[in-house]
Amino acid sequence: MFFEWQGNQAVTLRCVDKFHETADTVSIKLADLSESLCFEFKAGQFISLGVEIDGKMAFRAYSLSSLSGDDYLQLTIKRVDGGKVSNYLLDQLLIGDTVQALPPAGDFNCIDHPPLVVEGQQKALLISAGCGITPVFAMAKQWLHNASGVDVTFLHIARSQSETIYLDELETYHAAYADFNLALLLKHRGETSYPEGRLNATWLQVLVPDFKQRTVYLCGPNPFMQDVQGYLSELGFDMANFFQESFSPVTKDSAEAHDAGLNVKVPDFSQSIVAHKGQVLAEVLEGAGLPLIVACRSGICGSCKCKVREGDVSSTSMETLTAEEIEQGYVLACSSTLESDVEVELG
Ligand code: FES
Repeated sequence: MFFEWQGNQAVTLRCVDKFHETADTVSIKLADLSESLCFEFKAGQFISLGVEIDGKMAFRAYSLSSLSGDDYLQLTIKRVDGGKVSNYLLDQLLIGDTVQALPPAGDFNCIDHPPLVVEGQQKALLISAGCGITPVFAMAKQWLHNASGVDVTFLHIARSQSETIYLDELETYHAAYADFNLALLLKHRGETSYPEGRLNATWLQVLVPDFKQRTVYLCGPNPFMQDVQGYLSELGFDMANFFQESFSPVTKDSAEAHDAGLNVKVPDFSQSIVAHKGQVLAEVLEGAGLPLIVACRSGICGSCKCKVREGDVSSTSMETLTAEEIEQGYVLACSSTLESDVEVELG
């Protein structure tokens, strides 16, 4: 039997396992309260997790690394400087505790974007750095589990062998499957046989000579993703076969964030908040303690949708909004900065 999500409402799940992947990374497994139902999702997708910290619910998005059909959802969480939810999950969450969760979401997945068929075979190149490994690891695992015949090259960049998440599983796959090839590039090689270096166009060609015949799936920190995209373009890769994801927060442009003394009204909550031009709308609303779920902070999950009834914001993402919602004035608060006084309706 499969778990049924409640539309876009948060549901309660229980932590049934928790273990370290590396010194600063843990994986947690979440099950439904009866611990008997299976979960369906598309490998590469994420869920938004909510926990109560200091009396307030806070949400963040994490990619799934379990298999669709398992009776648990697995997430891998890395310690982040000042990362309230991530560090809470690492340090405080205990096996048996409950959390809130929103349904799986995200276009970066191997079902909506299957690999290109080249000479009768689907070929994929998964490229990741650091904790960006999670969604692409899920894709590789699902392909292998389904015996899908997808030929996978898994190129991962890490600081060192001991800081490489899922290394044991990746090495096991590499040894066990002829169509799974692991290419690891380390910043500090140490005693290992893996090469040491910083990924650039030359390394890409050396480590994956047939990269042009593969569909590329990329996840990692924003600067890394921009660099990789640049190398691929420079080498003449067909960017129609390129997909990427990153949970990188939208930041305000400090040049624009000056003291214009704007006003954000939220009549349903009798709030009138002083803000500044260029401030991120979600930060203003959260700062006032309003009940807005801000999970991915990157304009991809849709949890922070709200309606701007009056005034102007400038938005960098409309990703989950329908044309009708955009017409009605809905925006993603995490991806919208203030241009004028505004009046906002939550939800
Ligand atoms: S928090 Fe995910 S879209 Fe805004």
